[in-house]
Amino acid sequence: MKTTRYWESAAIPELYEWFATEAEPSSPAWGRVSRQVASTPSIAVLLDQLPPTARQPNLFLGAVKFLGGPLDADPSLPLWVATHWPKIEQLVTTRFTQTNEVGRCAVIAPVLASLPQPIALIEVGMSAGLGLFPDLYGYRWTLDDGTVVSGGAPSEVTIECRVSGAGLPLVAPEIAWRAGIDQNPLDPADHDDAAWLRALVWPGEDAREARLAAALRTVAGKDVLRVAGDITAALPAVVAMAPHAATVVVVHSATLAYLPREARERHLALLAELGVHWVSNEGLRVVAPVRDALPAGFADDPRPCFVLARDGVPLARVGGHGQWLEWL
Ligand SMILES: C[S@@+](CC[C@H](N)C(=O)[O-])C[C@H]1O[C@@H](n2cnc3c(N)ncnc32)[C@H](O)[C@@H]1O
Repeated sequence: MKTTRYWESAAIPELYEWFATEAEPSSPAWGRVSRQVASTPSIAVLLDQLPPTARQPNLFLGAVKFLGGPLDADPSLPLWVATHWPKIEQLVTTRFTQTNEVGRCAVIAPVLASLPQPIALIEVGMSAGLGLFPDLYGYRWTLDDGTVVSGGAPSEVTIECRVSGAGLPLVAPEIAWRAGIDQNPLDPADHDDAAWLRALVWPGEDAREARLAAALRTVAGKDVLRVAGDITAALPAVVAMAPHAATVVVVHSATLAYLPREARERHLALLAELGVHWVSNEGLRVVAPVRDALPAGFADDPRPCFVLARDGVPLARVGGHGQWLEWL
């Protein structure tokens, strides 16, 4: 995983070569397009003119998909990019990589359900807020011995997750109130917001995109407080609005990695100060207290993973999209 600094400063051919290697295991097509960009000076020149934050491959490739461009390496790509450049530039300078992965609910739901019910759920880094509705999806947790534990609601969205080891009961929580904070909250009912989120799913991940589309339909128009702002600056006022009869839980999932280290520390200090429960679903090294509490040897496992934690205590190693969960 490269830092924001790398995305902002690496030469375009090097950046897109690196991204091709990252993308090709899940999306060979995006790997090939990324390699084509790396070796096409006319595209590199355009990308080089962008502000540093707008040049990352996920944004450019998302814009290509959003605008109906080639979804695989193709001789027509340079001309297509040149023709569509004003629209591409507008998208990459106004949109963000806000990938909202509903599959993460399969690993977060049991943690929420382990706290006193009902829950007042606050997600910092909500994107479109799919993670605020874990009670509206169906679940199929498959255990090591093949037993399937079904849970959640009858829904157009069923989330599959493989579970190893003994941990919390696999059940969905009861949510009494929900609020999300994001620097750019997206609205699942907005056509362009939904299309942008779908464009961020890589070609070849069709089942994931279909599930995302179903989740967006499921939550569109549902009642949720959407707050635009910085997750740390806005959080105290949002916590103050939560109903007192419910257990206030702050969830952060694939979000704290976007904060510089000092901002991350300030956010964690605020969670402690507010006295709320917090559920963390972040990369291995992102949350210092969680990382420091991991059992010896945990980081030696080479598989990319997130760590699921409750109130700073690590509970499980999980797949980054919630596709598997191994209780500690
Ligand atoms: C990768 S998305 C994750 C979305 C969701 N939590 C999930 O797991 O699917 C990260 C989100 O965090 C938001 N974000 C990052 N830093 C932020 C900050 N300092 N304040 C507010 N939102 C932030 C981004 O806008 C983006 O929507």
